[in-house]
Amino acid sequence: MSNYNKNPITFDYNNMLKDYVGNDGFTVEELKAASKDAVKAFKAVKAGRGLNMMGWTDLPYNQKEVVADIKQTAKEIRKKFDYFVVLGIGGSALGPLAVFQSICHLHYNDLPKSKRKGPKFYVEDNVDPERMKALLDVIDIKKTMFNVITKSGSTSETMTQYLIINDILKKELGSDAKNHIIATTSHEKGNLIKIAKEEGYKTFYIPDGVGGRFSELCPVGLLPAAVLNIDIKTMLDGAKFMDKRCSKSDLFVNPALMAATLQYLSMKKGRNISVMMPYADGLKLFADWYAQLWGESLGKNKDLNGNSCNVGQTPVKSLGVTDQHSQVQLYTEGPFDKVITLIGVDSYRTEVKIPNGCESIPSVNFLCGHTMNELITSEMVATEYALTKSGKLNNRIMLPEINEFSIGQLMMFFMLQTAYTGALLNIDTFNQPGVEEGKNATYALLGRDGYQEKAKEIKSKKEKSTDYII
Ligand code: PA5
Repeated sequence: MSNYNKNPITFDYNNMLKDYVGNDGFTVEELKAASKDAVKAFKAVKAGRGLNMMGWTDLPYNQKEVVADIKQTAKEIRKKFDYFVVLGIGGSALGPLAVFQSICHLHYNDLPKSKRKGPKFYVEDNVDPERMKALLDVIDIKKTMFNVITKSGSTSETMTQYLIINDILKKELGSDAKNHIIATTSHEKGNLIKIAKEEGYKTFYIPDGVGGRFSELCPVGLLPAAVLNIDIKTMLDGAKFMDKRCSKSDLFVNPALMAATLQYLSMKKGRNISVMMPYADGLKLFADWYAQLWGESLGKNKDLNGNSCNVGQTPVKSLGVTDQHSQVQLYTEGPFDKVITLIGVDSYRTEVKIPNGCESIPSVNFLCGHTMNELITSEMVATEYALTKSGKLNNRIMLPEINEFSIGQLMMFFMLQTAYTGALLNIDTFNQPGVEEGKNATYALLGRDGYQEKAKEIKSKKEKSTDYII
């Protein structure tokens, strides 16, 4: 579509520099000195492109056929169904949620059907029984398409959601139940693909080299987005555009490499918290997506040589301006342990004027005649000023506007930043042994065959003392 604002997003790191933020910042000389490590990380990521767990780098380039299939399927879903529900968790849920919230109307499900561009949309990313009941209370199962998404095809939460829904569908619809489920999973590994073949579900595949948290730009995210009439081709174009901008090893030119190097240098100084603070409600869940990407990729206890390292930066999700009234006090005056990334928007998709109406009270009247757009932007600049004044490391990403092209750019920016940072830390960015440990312990606790040893291991753990439960 030609009317998209396709300008680049920008990464402003002025306030990571000593000249602006004071002692905690870095000098340009320090950045130049880090260039050697950055080039090494860049080369490692470049060499890994498309291989092993780096299949996500190919996604903007190699999905022509699958995109056509997704768009056709989405069109049919929009015609036949009033509800579209994603069953999944982690990377299989956070990407679809982030893109939904950023592109669609902020009260999408509350809009009348004539004003929505697709079915009502829900993502069941938990196994809280109250939430499942609540979902079933608001959807009409006969008019619902369910998209079960799991790369491993065995995640307890997702398979539980599937079992419940499939049981209800079969009871209500008999043999037509299979026309209400689409599976998105690995093409050969795991249980969901076996079930999908047996039941005859329409299936989309998650490429082998694409892990959960790097999967938004494959069918995991593209199908839900297309169902919502989001322009997935433009989203992929945005990702490609960012990928090209990050094709140089010079960190002063490659924005994701500069961002990675600054985070890496900050971690070395003990700045172990990464706050993401978008000044846009549409990006609130984008911060959730980032939190998984950053936390799960970089939180590791062994480096690639097998040495113990315990690295990572704790991601914190924040929202401007809402959290100015809860978290910003801590960010400005609390410990020097954070890097704060503000995300701003040059042009919001609407403008709301603040009307006159309080001429007699000057300390309210100053707002009149301005717009909410001016207010939110001024508050971002004010927070940035306060952080910088108190010497706290911060940087700012600006989106020309929130649209498919800028969201594609933003996702690729953060995925590349994560890959570069993992390479700088010399860790495996793409595994998640800590998550697997929890998954395996769940299987053992619920008596899954093959997990008897794990069950014994859990049983042999020192019993909790009631003395310490009050
Ligand atoms: O990033 C990851 O690999 C994980 O967080 C997964 O997305 C999450 O555990 C869900 O896994 P799966 O898609 O196999 O059900």
